[in-house]
Amino acid sequence: MSARILDGKALADEVRGRIATDVATLKEEHGVTPGLAAVIVGEDPASQVYVGMKHRASEAAGMLSRQVVLPTATTQDELEQVVADLNADDDIDGILVQLPLPDHLDPRPVQELIDPGKDVDALNPYTAGRLAVGDPTFLSCTPYGVLEILASAGIPTSGAHVVVVGRSNLVGRPLANMLSLKGRDATVTVAHSRTRDLAAVTRLGDVVVAAVGSAGLITADHVRPGATVIDVGTNRGDDGKLVGDVDFDAVAEVAGAITPVPGGVGPMTVTMLLQNTLEAARARRGLPRR
Ligand code: GUN
Repeated sequence: MSARILDGKALADEVRGRIATDVATLKEEHGVTPGLAAVIVGEDPASQVYVGMKHRASEAAGMLSRQVVLPTATTQDELEQVVADLNADDDIDGILVQLPLPDHLDPRPVQELIDPGKDVDALNPYTAGRLAVGDPTFLSCTPYGVLEILASAGIPTSGAHVVVVGRSNLVGRPLANMLSLKGRDATVTVAHSRTRDLAAVTRLGDVVVAAVGSAGLITADHVRPGATVIDVGTNRGDDGKLVGDVDFDAVAEVAGAITPVPGGVGPMTVTMLLQNTLEAARARRGLPRR
């Protein structure tokens, strides 16, 4: 069997086109330009690439994009002051603080400080808690992108068994919460590094989502024939190439559908950040969700 390739890049282009149209309408009808601020501390090369992509994508969608680049030696107080200033800045609708921060900085108080109305990255515990109690505000960008890929491919979550491998606050945990919400109605298993016989667990999945950060972790053995495999991993191979958590060539022989890396979930993460920023700009002005 050869799996259907779920093209996240093509879907991202389509959704970004819709977002750009909505941004233009918001400008015309209400004189509002959604504004996104991305804060990056230090010189992590991957973070610089990701923040650069977010910057270019938000400008391409017609948004105001502000990058706040801070030196590695920035103190906790200085970083928190930057976030407080962005909270108070009326031109800014969405704030994200790129992770990882340098080791001497604690991300948690910074995330707690982000105005929940501007928390487009959904990492404030208030935002995560609203999702956990079934009344979400902003959805975390990567899990939101995964849901959009499944929906656009016509792969149902209702009643499906979805095995999420990974329990991070950025992906695994919020995705499990989203999938089990009323309306999505998946049966969710969260597997992680202490899971016994991972392959036996993932083989139960109608959908397997790999979000661990371990190149090639998911092999053909881990996947039931015909299952959908979503690869959230972004690992650098020895040759510098981007590879996922899934052994793509082998798993594509077994799976019914699979996302590639690159060109799968990654472009949708950035896209859902734009979507959240647009929603934040509307909500902050009392306009209804679209
Ligand atoms: N680092 C890797 N992915 C992300 C993300 O989605 N948001 C933030 N803030 N940092 C990240």
